[in-house]
Amino acid sequence: MSILFSPLTLKSVTLKNRIAISPMCQYSAKDGFPNDWHLVHLGSRAVGGAGLIIAEACAVVPEGRISPFDIGIWKDEHIEAHLRITKFIESQGAISALQLAHAGRKASCDTPWNGGGYLQNDVNAWQIVGPSSIPFKPGAPTPNELTIEDIKQVVLAFQLAAERSLKAGYKIIEIHAAHGYLLHQFLSPLSNQRTDDYGGSFENRVRLLLEVVDAISAVWPSTLPLFVRISATDWRDGGWDLEESIELVKMLKLKGVDLIDTSTAGNIFDAQIPVAPGYQVNFAKAIKKEGSILTGAVGLITSAQQAEEILQDASADLILIGRLALRDPYFPLNAAKQFNENVKWPLQYERGKI
Ligand SMILES: Cc1cc2nc3c(=O)[nH]c(=O)nc-3n(C[C@H](O)[C@H](O)[C@H](O)COP(=O)(O)O)c2cc1C
Repeated sequence: MSILFSPLTLKSVTLKNRIAISPMCQYSAKDGFPNDWHLVHLGSRAVGGAGLIIAEACAVVPEGRISPFDIGIWKDEHIEAHLRITKFIESQGAISALQLAHAGRKASCDTPWNGGGYLQNDVNAWQIVGPSSIPFKPGAPTPNELTIEDIKQVVLAFQLAAERSLKAGYKIIEIHAAHGYLLHQFLSPLSNQRTDDYGGSFENRVRLLLEVVDAISAVWPSTLPLFVRISATDWRDGGWDLEESIELVKMLKLKGVDLIDTSTAGNIFDAQIPVAPGYQVNFAKAIKKEGSILTGAVGLITSAQQAEEILQDASADLILIGRLALRDPYFPLNAAKQFNENVKWPLQYERGKI
């Protein structure tokens, strides 16, 4: 029997297999409300057999959106629209998760199909914020440095978003602390040059993330899992690195975090990244081993065999697929067939199961 199609129990939640759909922004929402596109996009991947569906970066405040078209959960009115989606995902035997996010200095951008650049001199643009007034790249707008009071409001926004996520039917929250967004900006000394309690030493740079974890844990049931996605390295000397990631993960584990979704990069616009099949898996492996915690591996994992080998090698406990799932929503069902695993197909599609 494959590990890929073995269940994974996290607290009171059991995933039917080890395949998760990686969170992927669709840039298709209006005023934060997920809509038919999100229902069909996420729903199709639940129909396709993934055990876990992680909905895209969901803004905890409007100014935390990457683009004006991101989904959000900053007001109670959003709950109903999310609930429609989580109910459908569950009806397909999959578990629904939401990635809670704040884009910080990488907010207020256009859609990728319009170039993805910062919105400037645009009615839809807004003032971006960050740990320090350091633009992401030359020509990018300068973020306003968050005050201590602003930071408290960010922590509160994550907490309120977690409360709403529960009401919206999500069973897992993933805190987005990767890819150069706000929480990662605080972690990295290259983007965080504060001189107060939130900058400088390692303990100060990790403070905001730990406060967010505490605030969410205060309202998120202890029976439900909590994930954190990190970028395990900035791929830049003097930046956030694997060693600091491992120290952080040990602290996250003590706070009850269940799984580290291990990605890399995003904070340094011109980082040199050795992109290759499974290029981030070794980070998941090191964090799993040194941090004694479950990990998710992500990044150019594109075949069932490759996914199985990562699990067999004990490099990770969960396999996240992104672009492969855009090409093939039915990858999990096809992979099961390849492994002769007799998984349940949707009744309506059973004639396709040969
Ligand atoms: C269209 C698209 C949108 C993405 N949006 C997010 C996101 O909302 N949150 C996130 O953490 N990563 C996001 N990512 C990164 C993916 O989750 C994943 O980590 C990355 O694509 C590498 O995995 P892959 O090689 O399987 O695609 C996005 C990737 C794509 C292609």
